[in-house]
Parts: sequence; C-alpha cells; structure tokens
Amino acid sequence: MEPTKIILDCDPGHDDAIAILLAGKAPEINLLGITVVAGNQTLDRTAINALQVCQYLGLNVPVYAGCDRPMIREKLTAGDIHGATGLDGPKFAPLDRSIETKHAVQYLIETLMASDGDITLVPTGPLTNIAMAMRLEPKIVPKIHRIVLMGGSFSYGNVSPAAEFNILADADAAHVVFTCGRPITMVGLDVTRKVLCVPDVVDRMAKIDNRAGNLFVDLMRFFNKTQHQVFGWEGGPLHDPVTIASIVAPEVLTTKPMHVEIDHRSIQSYGRTNADVFGYLHKTPNVDVATDIDVDRFWDIVEAGIRNYS
Ligand code: RIB
Ligand code: CA
Repeated sequence: MEPTKIILDCDPGHDDAIAILLAGKAPEINLLGITVVAGNQTLDRTAINALQVCQYLGLNVPVYAGCDRPMIREKLTAGDIHGATGLDGPKFAPLDRSIETKHAVQYLIETLMASDGDITLVPTGPLTNIAMAMRLEPKIVPKIHRIVLMGGSFSYGNVSPAAEFNILADADAAHVVFTCGRPITMVGLDVTRKVLCVPDVVDRMAKIDNRAGNLFVDLMRFFNKTQHQVFGWEGGPLHDPVTIASIVAPEVLTTKPMHVEIDHRSIQSYGRTNADVFGYLHKTPNVDVATDIDVDRFWDIVEAGIRNYS
C-alpha cells in the first residue's frame, strides 16, 4: 500500500516533537514537509524547535515557518507546559540547518495546488496556517484529501473549562477549517487524555536505547514534570502523536460522525468545539470525532516508531 502523503503543521511543543519523530520514519507515511505555527511558544521558538528535532533525528524534511500570530485574537502560548524555549529538557547541538525561505502558507498553497488531491494535512497546533492558506487560495480546499487534526474536545477543555488550547489559540482559524467541507478527523482531549505518558511508558521507551528513544525520554521527563505541576497527573497526555498513530493504523481510533461548530463569538466559551454527540440539531455531520482509542495499540505504535530509528 502506498504511504500516506502528509504535511505536518505543528507548534513544537513536546508532543509535536514526538509526532515529528513518529511521522519521520513510519513506512506508512510520506512526510512531505513540516509547517510551523505560533502556539506552544512564539514562532521564532517553534520553528527552531522543529528544525532541532529534524536535525537530531537525521530527518531530511523541509521546515517552513508560517504565521506568528492568530488571525484576530491576541497571541496565546503555553510556556507553563513546554518551557521558555517551547522544548525545554533535551540539549541540542548548534543548528547546521535553516528554515526554508518560503512562507509556510505559500508552501501549503503551492504543494496542494500541484498535487493530485492525495495529501493529508495533519495540524497539531493552532489552525492559523491552514485557515490563512484556505482564505488566500480557496482552490486548495478541494485538493485536500483529509485533515487529521489534534484539537478540541466534546467534554471539557484544558486551558478553559470550555476550550482546548489549539482551538482556543485561534478559534477564528478553527471556524474556517471546520466549515471548509473537506473530510476532517478531530483527535480531541477525549481520547488524548487516555494516553498518559506515565513513568512505566517512559521506562519502556528508554530500554530501546537509540537516538529517538533517548530524545523521547528527555522530552517526556520535562513534559511530565510540568503536566504534574499544572494538572497533578503522573504522566502527560501524548496529544499530537495520536494523529500520526491514526494514520499508521486507522483502527487505533474509534470515531463518530458529528456536527461540530466552533464557538468563536462568545466570551466564556470562546474556542469550544460544540460537538452534537447525539445529533440533536439534525445538521449534517462535518467531522469524524475520535471517541475512543486502543491504548495498548497506541503505545505499541509509539515503540515501533522509535525502533524505526535503530
Ligand atoms: O491541547 C493540547 C494541544 O495544544 C497539543 O497540540 C499541544 O502541543 C498544544 O499545541
Ligand atoms: Ca501541538
């Protein structure tokens, strides 16, 4: 079976970094390029972080910097979770690679327009780059095969009672993406909170003892510390890699078609993904919402992804 062509749009971020790691050597995936957006940290940091991860892992994948702020609202970052650099923990060698000169939005437009409509977009940060590309060149929309995004929740949020970070950080962009009409898989907190990277998982991956395993351990030791400080958990939810795992093995996720609207107008609930779980509104579903995950299979996919670097 042909590997799935993807563009990973991310805001590294510890869990974004693991998503890059898994996508980079998965035989089921052809990682065409990485586009970076402001989110977990400012764009100058998230862009360098993506480059550092690719350089450390020896991934020859182009990295494009995109939007450094949301479309309308003020910037929102998550230094309390990811640290001042956005990727605190690991120590990286000086960069001998650079960010591509082309803007990420331009890269998205040119790559999608030149494609046969077989590219899956995998956003794991705020949706600003994707939405701006759709607005700048609407002809790319029918060219998108599917959007598999980490974001939202049909239960409660993580940065506000209503909203999850990626959506809250740019709900206007999320509204553009969720109303684009293309197939969307929403990997929300409802499933990512089931894959907590507890110490036993870190120990399991540490035993692999290769570059990728060592990076995983360094990243997760920091990520778990801040997740414990903020949420009291023993292990942080490994949010973003669930998108990649669902492309490697779609059966790892259970999904349900739902009508999902983004609340980008209210104050208290700004950034909420209003998912009509029971179809009350009798509106046509626009999103395949992840409702469950095979946790054991997910960690097996993560282990296999790390072993791909041996
Ligand atoms: O809410 C979790 C999401 O926000 C993850 O993608 C994390 O990396 C941050 O971007
Ligand atoms: Ca992210």
